[in-house]
Amino acid sequence: MKVLIATEKPFAKVAVEGIKKELQEANFEVALLEKYSAKTELLDAVKDANAIIIRSDIVDKEVLNAAKELKLVVRAGAGYDNVDLSEASDKGVCVMNTPGQNSNAVAELVFGMLIMAARNNYNGTAGGELKGKKIGIHACGHVGRNVVRIARGFEMDIYAFDPFANGEEMKKEGVTMVNSVEELYSTCNFISLHLPFTPETGKSINADLVNRMPEKGVLINTARKEIIDEESLIDLLGKRKDLKFYTDIKPSTSEMFTKLFAEEGRYFETPKKMGAQTAEANINAGLAAAKQTVEFLKDGIAKFQVNK
Ligand code: 3PG
Repeated sequence: MKVLIATEKPFAKVAVEGIKKELQEANFEVALLEKYSAKTELLDAVKDANAIIIRSDIVDKEVLNAAKELKLVVRAGAGYDNVDLSEASDKGVCVMNTPGQNSNAVAELVFGMLIMAARNNYNGTAGGELKGKKIGIHACGHVGRNVVRIARGFEMDIYAFDPFANGEEMKKEGVTMVNSVEELYSTCNFISLHLPFTPETGKSINADLVNRMPEKGVLINTARKEIIDEESLIDLLGKRKDLKFYTDIKPSTSEMFTKLFAEEGRYFETPKKMGAQTAEANINAGLAAAKQTVEFLKDGIAKFQVNK
């Protein structure tokens, strides 16, 4: 059995060593494809793989067609919108993720970006503090819950909108659950996005919603670029000179955002998605992926399958 680790954005070295060890101890052959720049490299590498461990790497129909021996795709991370689930199901390939494993890292980055925005990119001018401000968490999955935990330490007022969350549990964690997404945006100084990208959430963060934010509102995106209606947000940032947008995922119109708003310190993007890019998150998600791979290939255990 051959397992391919295909990561355009590599895991930390220590995580790769751990993943390899886990797989080799189970007597699997391990191949590593890192930092590849052409899709053909992936197409070639998957040819004889029985399982692949990926991050945000695109596993589409072409990749699945090339992977004739494939039985399993493990997305070492939370979001799996980079995998063609229905094509995988048609081919009898199981797809899994590793929920929760990198969520603290992403939540910590939210606060890195929040402080940077609140302190005017450390440009010497008087900024603001997080303490006592209202933070709105748009969707309370693993990352959202970690944001709640950290926000408590900053003594922020915590609000959230998530129709699927357990309201009672969230209340116990000190969160005020609001009844509508509009209310969340109208209430909060800072909004942190934690929605997955689905047909329902695509472009759902638009000017109408963000314009509801109070003066000096900050929108933080560590989720997916596809959930933002970029055109309308550009339009809004042009009109509302008090708003800031900080993102860990380069928008499709990144150049436009940068040209119009970066210099005034109202737009910031990480050069590469950095949320889950810590040694700890890589070890957690990578090792979980390796363990899930072993369990599946040896015993058929399909825990965390997402394409049932
Ligand atoms: C996830 O969905 O787990 C995060 O967005 C992290 O993605 P990455 O592994 O590509 O950094």
